[in-house]
Amino acid sequence: MTSARPRIVVTRAIAEPAMDLLRETGDVWRPEPDRQLPAEELHTAVAGADAIVSTLADRVDGALADAAGRRLRVIASVAVGYDNADVRALADRGVVFTNTPGVLTDATADLTFGLLLSVTRRLGEGERLLRARRPWRFHLGFLLGTGLQGKTLGIVGLGQIGQAVARRALAFGMDIAYTGRRRAPADVERELRARHLPFAELLRTADVVSLHCPLTPETRHLIDAEALATMKPAAYLLNTTRGPVVDEAALARALREGVIAGAGLDVFEREPEVEPGLLDLDNVALAPHLGSATVETRTEMALLAARNVVSVLRGEGPITEVKA
Ligand code: DGY
Repeated sequence: MTSARPRIVVTRAIAEPAMDLLRETGDVWRPEPDRQLPAEELHTAVAGADAIVSTLADRVDGALADAAGRRLRVIASVAVGYDNADVRALADRGVVFTNTPGVLTDATADLTFGLLLSVTRRLGEGERLLRARRPWRFHLGFLLGTGLQGKTLGIVGLGQIGQAVARRALAFGMDIAYTGRRRAPADVERELRARHLPFAELLRTADVVSLHCPLTPETRHLIDAEALATMKPAAYLLNTTRGPVVDEAALARALREGVIAGAGLDVFEREPEVEPGLLDLDNVALAPHLGSATVETRTEMALLAARNVVSVLRGEGPITEVKA
């Protein structure tokens, strides 16, 4: 007996409320136990699917859509970034692609600030010292860090996440500068007291450079050896967007040689690999891609992806479509 209900493939475990929503709409399949399927297995699993819920670890391209076949109407990614997706190839096949903007803004901004505090106040170094059971005693010169009050935060890409980071920085008494292809709306500039600067000037003048631009061919290795050399020796670099925006080998060299003071990284060029040169350095705070990793945020992301699927399958159109 063939089922008239849509077939929905979910590539990784997602929050149960989102699974419930999908189950009300169709027959849902996901790998049990939860694991990342290699492309070949994924292509077999999606055969005959009407909808796919994917993650940033899946390659979402024409080959995936072709493997699903002619019934496929929507791929809903549980992520805001979509450099893993060939949106043009999907559009050419009439497949709607959606992402999850907005719902992970605060969680990612919080983590960005966490990394900033961790590296400027040397929290990782302190913790490693304690866990290594090394002797220590309070004294006035012990593990001195750098304060943020009065320093300039230079934001590369003043989108939703960049703005949320700026709001947190204002509360810490920082000045805000930003760079980007377009000026932010006047009310945003006013609220954040944000100055728009050319990229090179932002690098030259900021005490902290925080990356919030998407990964595109133009932003790949935006921060390379030359860009790092332009930054102040006392400056810090934060990357919570996508690893390849930074030339990681050049960054490790710059951190080792004191070209800049430190870095906070949540994303890496060849995830899950981390440039070995970074792992031995004390002046870098590291996190394994945790920007949106709170229970609340991951639930909202999964729910938004599920709502996109349901809405498209009902013929009501996507909620947060990424257009080619
Ligand atoms: C995203 O959504 O793009 C983040 O990198 C992971 O949540």
